[in-house]
Amino acid sequence: MSRLVVVSNRVAVPDAKGAAGGLAVALREAFEAYPGLWFGWSGKVAAQPAAQPRLVDKGRVQYALMDLTSIDRQEYYSGFANRALWPTMHYRIGLADFSRADYAGYLRVNRTFASALARLLKPDDLIWVHDYHLIPLASELRSLGVTNRIGYFHHIPWPAPEVFATLPGSTQLLRAIMSYDLVGVHTERDADNLRRGLVQEIGAVQHKGDVLELGDRRALVKGFPIGIDLAGFQAAANRSSTHPLVRQTIAGLGSRNLIIGVDRLDYSKGIPERMESFERFLISNPDQRGRVTYLQIAPTSRSEVPEYAELSRAVNDTLGRINGSLGEPGWVPIHYVTSTYPRPVLAGLYRLAKVGLVTPIRDGMNLVAKEYVAAQNPADPGVLVLSKFAGAAQQLTDALIVNPNDKFEVAEAIQVALHMSLEERIHRWSRMMKTLKSQDVSWWASSYLNALKSRKVHGPARSKVKIAGTTH
Ligand code: G6P
Repeated sequence: MSRLVVVSNRVAVPDAKGAAGGLAVALREAFEAYPGLWFGWSGKVAAQPAAQPRLVDKGRVQYALMDLTSIDRQEYYSGFANRALWPTMHYRIGLADFSRADYAGYLRVNRTFASALARLLKPDDLIWVHDYHLIPLASELRSLGVTNRIGYFHHIPWPAPEVFATLPGSTQLLRAIMSYDLVGVHTERDADNLRRGLVQEIGAVQHKGDVLELGDRRALVKGFPIGIDLAGFQAAANRSSTHPLVRQTIAGLGSRNLIIGVDRLDYSKGIPERMESFERFLISNPDQRGRVTYLQIAPTSRSEVPEYAELSRAVNDTLGRINGSLGEPGWVPIHYVTSTYPRPVLAGLYRLAKVGLVTPIRDGMNLVAKEYVAAQNPADPGVLVLSKFAGAAQQLTDALIVNPNDKFEVAEAIQVALHMSLEERIHRWSRMMKTLKSQDVSWWASSYLNALKSRKVHGPARSKVKIAGTTH
């Protein structure tokens, strides 16, 4: 039986409590269908570069964990992945900071990972690489003679070719993409961006069925919108009212309505913009002052990257200004917390909230939008306000779709959401639930893996896909 080999920057080794991160939940059923190996960064920094991974066996999955040196972490993770690729992929080219040293570090870590992984591979393993940290991995594996089927899933947006082309190294990365047999993104819009990039920037030829050809390589580029564990999330939401934190929130709210936003603290999420939209809502609807509370949960992330530290300051300034100018002795308009909460607590808070505010400036999918809908009480569901620039908006067309850059439009949507009739809320919610049911997370993983298995295996790579500017 083939094994499933997953490769990702972060590896979620299950802990004693069985807590699982997003990708672990997404892959749970896939690992039930196939025995597996999960390879990636241990999350640890070591004095010496790791040549061999540390192996940990847990159930049907073996975890292979590589430590990074502090310079690797700096150049590969904080530098190229999060200061160059991340902003560019999110259309924030003004924030992108390219450094040749970082790019070399990114390629070096991918090469080190490839040579450690190649030693663990068996001929019929199905290899599934995840996210932007590891774009060159397949080309490095091919250069070591690996001929297995290799798929890549890109969890963040793929921008228009004109945007991606601004990044030094982008044509080399597009060439590296061609070493995969299947490339998945969340939406057809992103798939179209990537296909156009491959044609316009590196001269790939597009065949029917969305297969791109370059030299002796053929890659299928397609949208696979990731779903959630709907049944699991609903069950968590149903049980949630007994959780002490949820009870405490209910008590604190009294008769006030709750509006909720939950995001990693990231400039792609539009958090200061969202706070200002809420401010606009309160200014336009003075009768709502004291009657509604907006809870923003925003766990801090990548704080060593300067743009994130700057964002944290900007959010604190905006928050302080709004709470100071509009708050009253007995009422704070915006509650802001940066802790991480477990899934059952989030499910409970989503269920309490009359409005889910999911207004990223750009997002690959955004699972909070889906989880908010899943957590609702079917007899009295809340309303989702969703950015048109989240991949989820392509599927959840019954949300109130907004442009997050237009504070008046978002403010108006909050007002409409809070006053929406029960009948309309149930109608919109039921239609969104149909999509969440038919395209849940097991559908996502199995449709991706079936498409990968259906790709033809290539013979030994005749030519290495050269990544310019590097010494192999
Ligand atoms: C996004 C990316 C993931 C990443 C996560 C958290 O969702 O698509 O690959 O793991 O953010 O970011 P971090 O830098 O903390 O891993």
